[in-house]
Amino acid sequence: MPRLMMLLTIMALFVPRAGAEPSSAVAFDSATLRMLANADPVRGEELAQTGKCYKCHGDAGVSEDPDDINIAGMSSSYAYKQLTDYLDKKRDSRDMYKSVRKLDARQLADLAAWYATLEPAQPAPQRNRDPAILRLVFKGDPERMIKACASCHGRRGRGGQFDHPALAGQQREYLVLSLNEFKEGDRDNDIYARMRSVAETLTEEEIEGLAAYYATAVPEAAQ
Ligand code: HEC
Ligand code: HEC
Repeated sequence: MPRLMMLLTIMALFVPRAGAEPSSAVAFDSATLRMLANADPVRGEELAQTGKCYKCHGDAGVSEDPDDINIAGMSSSYAYKQLTDYLDKKRDSRDMYKSVRKLDARQLADLAAWYATLEPAQPAPQRNRDPAILRLVFKGDPERMIKACASCHGRRGRGGQFDHPALAGQQREYLVLSLNEFKEGDRDNDIYARMRSVAETLTEEEIEGLAAYYATAVPEAAQ
């Protein structure tokens, strides 16, 4: 192969890697933690009103519409990270980008603080109890190097520290969608690819089953 061709080929091979950016610009350093601790939920509530967040997330962060996404009771650190990722286009959503693009970090922290004070939706009483799914939730699958969902998302699915979101009480459709997005790599704002590496080997059946384990009850009228 002529030298120039070879060089071009090598460069082409490296383009995707060279372009690989950090999955998120958010770091939970002391400045960020201080800002989150000092965030003002009252100002957050005002911002939520003017930003019309209720149009897509329900009046108090919980919606009866299965196409919506429940955000009440999410930890402020997780919500803040997502809002920042939308603003930085690390997580791709036109709707969310439009909702946050004029806001600064303090305002995003205030919004996150407001939603964190609200009562979260609960998982459906008749939730999926399939033993294979419970095993993934509480034990994981060492053969596939899948850690227990509960180790990061909490025993009760109410989330963990920093960027570990609550899953319990979320809309089923959204859980399926996000797991598939991580599986396909369409959502890649998870630092250290922690979720992508879990979702990678999950089957469609397991994704449905896990969503049915964590999901909120859908009101009959909306079914
Ligand atoms: C026009 C509809 C719409 C509006 C208005 C809207 N959102 Fe969203 N929101 C969405 C959609 C759709 C997603 C999921 C997008 C995706 O898949 O990444 C989302 C995702 C989120 C998430 C991440 C949820 C998660 O579990 O990761 C948060 C937090 C959030 N929105 C907060 C807000 C706040 C705060 C406002 C108001 C400032 C707002 N949204 C306004 C549609 C909307
Ligand atoms: C090693 C830790 C870890 C494990 C194990 C893990 N997750 Fe996650 N998960 C995360 C992190 C971190 C995020 C948030 C990534 C981000 O957006 O910053 C996440 C996000 C998610 C989301 C998207 C939530 C939302 O509101 O958008 C779903 C759904 C999810 N995980 C389901 C699962 C399931 C089901 C399992 C078990 C099969 C699991 N996770 C195991 C760390 C983990």
